[in-house]
Amino acid sequence: MTLTAQLLDGKALAQKMQAELAEQVRVLQVQRGRPPGLAVLMVGDNPASAAYVRNKERACTNVGIASFGKHFPADTTQTELEAVIQSLNQDDRVDGILVQLPLPDHLNAVALLNQILPEKDADGLHPTNLGRLVRGEAGLRSCTPAGVMRLLQEYEIDPKGKQAVVIGRSILVGKPQALLLLEANATVTIAHSKTPDLGAIARTADILIVAVGRPLLITAEQVKPGAVVVDVGMNRILDETGKGRLVGDVDFNSVQSVASFLTPVPGGVGPMTVTMLLQNTVQSYLQRG
Ligand SMILES: NC(=O)c1ccc[n+]([C@@H]2O[C@H](COP(=O)([O-])OP(=O)(O)OC[C@H]3O[C@@H](n4cnc5c(N)ncnc54)[C@H](OP(=O)(O)O)[C@@H]3O)[C@@H](O)[C@H]2O)c1
Repeated sequence: MTLTAQLLDGKALAQKMQAELAEQVRVLQVQRGRPPGLAVLMVGDNPASAAYVRNKERACTNVGIASFGKHFPADTTQTELEAVIQSLNQDDRVDGILVQLPLPDHLNAVALLNQILPEKDADGLHPTNLGRLVRGEAGLRSCTPAGVMRLLQEYEIDPKGKQAVVIGRSILVGKPQALLLLEANATVTIAHSKTPDLGAIARTADILIVAVGRPLLITAEQVKPGAVVVDVGMNRILDETGKGRLVGDVDFNSVQSVASFLTPVPGGVGPMTVTMLLQNTVQSYLQRG
């Protein structure tokens, strides 16, 4: 097999989109007298979450979105957080609210997410926005799957009529991803931990999206020659020297010789997720008037 995949460069597309958003925000805030605002709420000290939150806040600064983020100690109660969300719901300077997951065990994440006003639901995870996605209505879309769709579009990969396989069925990624592919007229299969013979299912895919959280889960033998492979996974592993490294769910080295297009990790889906969060915040800002 001599085919070598073309990279789906999420980092480059994210930079381009963020520059466009910055220009849009620069013009709009003069007209409207205020910038868009995003509140990222973080509870506890999970180092990976802290890094994601820093990334999101840095990206906000780059495009001119005001940050109203708050960092709470690990023992913050459900009632305290609900009160914070209620006050952000009322705050006219805030267009988007995001609760960084995972939360400490004593907190009920679903109940908290449900408190966010659907029109400020920057992560697109509120039942109203997920319901709109199921119904094919306009609404705020989950950032990671929306970022994957935007990346496919950039490389003129049209899912229409294609066999798409999504591995993973979480509310955060797998399920909304499958619905977005369906909306784009792909024929969609969803695989998960109870799927027997994952390889046989994966090999049917013209477009394979892997969102599991297991390093090297997908190797070249499980990929149809010429398939488009999108690796959503983000796994921190220790390399031979004991240094931490970020890898996806796909064995990049073997799959790049079989796939036609492939996302790198890092530099693929991750930067797109952050960019779609910024885009959702600007969309809410425009719609809220
Ligand atoms: N790049 C980004 O911006 C971004 C954003 C979000 C998440 N992620 C990464 O994406 C990955 C998935 O995230 P998530 O939140 O969706 O994770 P999750 O909630 O843990 O869901 C993982 C899914 O994978 C399935 N699964 C587990 N083991 C499997 C196996 N051996 N074979 C097939 N399916 C298997 C699970 O099946 P069951 O439902 O049967 O348990 C579940 O549906 C993680 O690495 C996460 O860090 C990246």
